[in-house]
Amino acid sequence: SLLHRGPDATLRLILRKPSHERTQEELELVFEELLHIPALSHLSTSIKRELASIIVFESHAQAGTVLFNQGDEGRSWYILQKGSVDVVIHGKGTVATLKEGDDFGKLALINDAPRAATIVLKENNCHLLRVDKEHFNRILRDVEANTLRLQEHGKDVLILERVVKQRGLTAFKYTVMSGTPSKMLEHLLDTRLNVLQVGPNDDPFLDDFLLTHIVFMPIAQLVDELASHYHNDSEIRNGAESPEDYEYLLTCKKRVVLFIQRWVMAVRHAVFEDPAAAHFIEEIATDVESDHGLQEEAGIIHQVLTQMSRYLEDRQQNMGQKWKLPPNGQPIGLFSGNVTATRTVIRPDDDIIFRVHCADHTFCTLRFPIYTTAEVIKICAADKLQLNRGPEDLALVEVKSNGERTIFKDNDLSIPTALTLNGRMFVSPRDHLDALTPLPEQEGATEGLEMDIETLATKDLAYHMTLFDWDLFWAVHEYELLYHTFGRHHFNKITSNLDVFIRRFNEIQYWVVTEIISTSNLNKRVSLLKNCKEYQNLNAFFAIVMGMSNSAVSRLTQTWDKLPSKFRKLFTEFEALIDPSRNHRAYRMSVGKLQPPVIPFMPLLLKDMTFAHEGNKTSIDGLVNFEKMHMMASTMRAVRFCRSRHLVLDPPSPKNNESQIRSYISCFRAIDCQRTLNTMSKKIEPR
Ligand code: CMP
Repeated sequence: SLLHRGPDATLRLILRKPSHERTQEELELVFEELLHIPALSHLSTSIKRELASIIVFESHAQAGTVLFNQGDEGRSWYILQKGSVDVVIHGKGTVATLKEGDDFGKLALINDAPRAATIVLKENNCHLLRVDKEHFNRILRDVEANTLRLQEHGKDVLILERVVKQRGLTAFKYTVMSGTPSKMLEHLLDTRLNVLQVGPNDDPFLDDFLLTHIVFMPIAQLVDELASHYHNDSEIRNGAESPEDYEYLLTCKKRVVLFIQRWVMAVRHAVFEDPAAAHFIEEIATDVESDHGLQEEAGIIHQVLTQMSRYLEDRQQNMGQKWKLPPNGQPIGLFSGNVTATRTVIRPDDDIIFRVHCADHTFCTLRFPIYTTAEVIKICAADKLQLNRGPEDLALVEVKSNGERTIFKDNDLSIPTALTLNGRMFVSPRDHLDALTPLPEQEGATEGLEMDIETLATKDLAYHMTLFDWDLFWAVHEYELLYHTFGRHHFNKITSNLDVFIRRFNEIQYWVVTEIISTSNLNKRVSLLKNCKEYQNLNAFFAIVMGMSNSAVSRLTQTWDKLPSKFRKLFTEFEALIDPSRNHRAYRMSVGKLQPPVIPFMPLLLKDMTFAHEGNKTSIDGLVNFEKMHMMASTMRAVRFCRSRHLVLDPPSPKNNESQIRSYISCFRAIDCQRTLNTMSKKIEPR
């Protein structure tokens, strides 16, 4: 048959003829042969008939012949009929040897990308069947197999899958399902950097990769690999610097520069914060600027450098900010005063002042950088509190206002900001955890201004709350969602900005409950709610609705009855919106229609992340499960979308007691101990 012995002389003769010279009889003969080729077995009979008229026979006498080079434009798809070929990649050498029956050269055709490898004949007298690009596109492109696997040294390194045809999808027919980190990066550099703007329906592989690589490829490794792609030497071309070689090497450099540009666009200062990345960018910049072939790229990298030095300067100026957790646990002073948006970002080396208690409720006050690990805090607190135990015998614990205890892992960090609303940090011998009880003050309210909110206009309150929450939301980096989901200790990174934002949610929620059962002014609360929704501050909106649904409030039937029915109806509508059934369908539907700026309901986003994380393995058979990364990135993109336009609100006029309102809303008094709340509720309405 065609496959095993190579086509006989007759067949070869036919396959060398141009299609229009092949007779019906000859086509039939070719068709019969095509039926036996495994590489075509997934194709229908009618497609094989079409192929019979255009498939071409090609033979090469000499081993060592280069069929095509990595980086070349893809012109044909090949099936190896007799002999063998090496697949060679710059910087890696021969990664695979293909044998009789194997096919190659599809990748460049389906992705409209340059050749991903050089193909070198390994034996004399190789026989190939060839389908040229125009025919491939016409006949095969839309019926290609669903998955495409690339191997190196006998192991899968990249698995691509057909993208279900979507309207408006432009460039990519295949997306990455899984792969090794390096191969995915290589594929990305090869195929995804030609277009700067990707449409909403396009394959977001590049963006997904940029948002999530820290999960499977730490920055240090990424930078190393980028460096070797940048300094790609032409060892497989025998060191001969032909003009094509020069072109190819330039292309490699351009891709790395474009990658850097897109990287900074995607995760901003997270790139600059990493010393290895910052150093790498500077190094590349010097090289790019000295290369005449890279003038356009010099402009790009210059922009990146400017951005970086501006960021680092600003960072230098705000070094070592000091945050406080005063006696009552509330990060007061955290955001008081005239803080600018950049200054509200909590950084790993900022100091934080906090208390650590022990079982007898004595405490010590500590000051540490936020990145300090639980172990260090534990040892230091034990020393100050004179607990004479070795570190292994001790635990750092949060005791919540309801008495619940959580033990911190030794390598955990950003502990003080991770405490719940009225939680306290304790250090205790591991065998005495049962002795830890909440401090009496934890049953009361967190520290905050007391104010008669009846004197305040709800419009003013909602306005200032929204501005304030926006700043907190703005400070949260998308990466913090990953750290939070996978565990910050895995990354050795803090999640303080996210912690504070989530804490704010609880603060508002319990402030609402606390205020209502202290004053029972429900009218005011409902109209505040309406304003938050109008400002698209969904985080606060949810918090308020949830506060009003708290059992301590919902049982106040007399109060509810006194409300105008208009308000009650409104509240019922709002409650429907936060209904969690069918995976928060009502909320998702209405949020889907909103345009930025939006302050999203963060707990739901985190739930989505956790759900994706727990339901999907990060690696499958040694390859990164990129489908999971895609899910993660989608949620991170949602956060990005919410703040893709900056918040500008018309201030309510006239400006009433602005500074007073600002300090009031920046730190609400809130009781988060449900037992206390229930008791108070029963006091105002006994039955
Ligand atoms: P293409 O990029 O068109 O040209 C080189 C071909 O080598 C590529 O398509 C694949 O079909 C084939 N190939 C086989 N193994 C690999 C690999 N590990 N990496 C890249 N290409 C490979």
